[in-house]
Amino acid sequence: MNAQRKADLSLSMNEMGRRFWAGEAEICHQFWGQARTNEEQARWLRLQVFKEMYGSGLTGNPGGLIKAFLEKLTDQVGKAKTKSDRDEFDRSLRVLREEYNHYKLFADVLENATNLPVLHSDLKDWQIAEDRQLQAIRQGIREREGQLGELAIMFTEGGGAAFFLVGRTIKGDPLSDQIAQASEIVYADELEHGEHGAFDLANELDTEEEWARARTLIIEICEQRLRMRYGMFGIPVDETRIKEITDGKIEPLPVE
Ligand SMILES: [Fe+2]
Ligand SMILES: [Fe+2]
Repeated sequence: MNAQRKADLSLSMNEMGRRFWAGEAEICHQFWGQARTNEEQARWLRLQVFKEMYGSGLTGNPGGLIKAFLEKLTDQVGKAKTKSDRDEFDRSLRVLREEYNHYKLFADVLENATNLPVLHSDLKDWQIAEDRQLQAIRQGIREREGQLGELAIMFTEGGGAAFFLVGRTIKGDPLSDQIAQASEIVYADELEHGEHGAFDLANELDTEEEWARARTLIIEICEQRLRMRYGMFGIPVDETRIKEITDGKIEPLPVE
């Protein structure tokens, strides 16, 4: 595949991603478009705390995302042979640090919202059905599609950070301010995580068939991400709108 064709496919994939990310932002505006009680905020915060620790299928490790990073790093200590091995180890250390920080930030916000301690043993009970389904879809793709599946999964990490892009703008009460502060930090980190996934995808896909397959997988994951967003806010899942977003009837989220 020549470089121009690859660049065109990559551009079109990223634009499709930005339409799904705009869909996620739209759902966030729907929820935060009015003042919310602490209990309404606590509902999505519980899922978010779970997601930062477990990653909803971003890795196949049953112990979750943080555990997956720790095990991968332990396994790779002392094995680097090349600059790229060293760079990858260094990046994993940084992303591990960032993801743990996201967990801590939202756990702190949740404790303030509910005045109850956030116990690690409660986390798994906080996953909602739509997120369990997202995890199952990613895991199925991982098992069926191998490396191409991993690339598609990582392209969808964080949903273009659209959730945090909107979250960082909310205000009006102390809890909202705290959510905005946490979202500001997570937004900057997740933007890079998503770009990294898009970069790896474009780097590794080499044939028309691979690009087409990855596109199908990414649509499947991103549609479920939208259901997960509706679910986390307690908004009924709008399948008609999801279909419209998939069909491109939405402006892509602008590039910052
Ligand atoms: Fe995160
Ligand atoms: Fe991330």
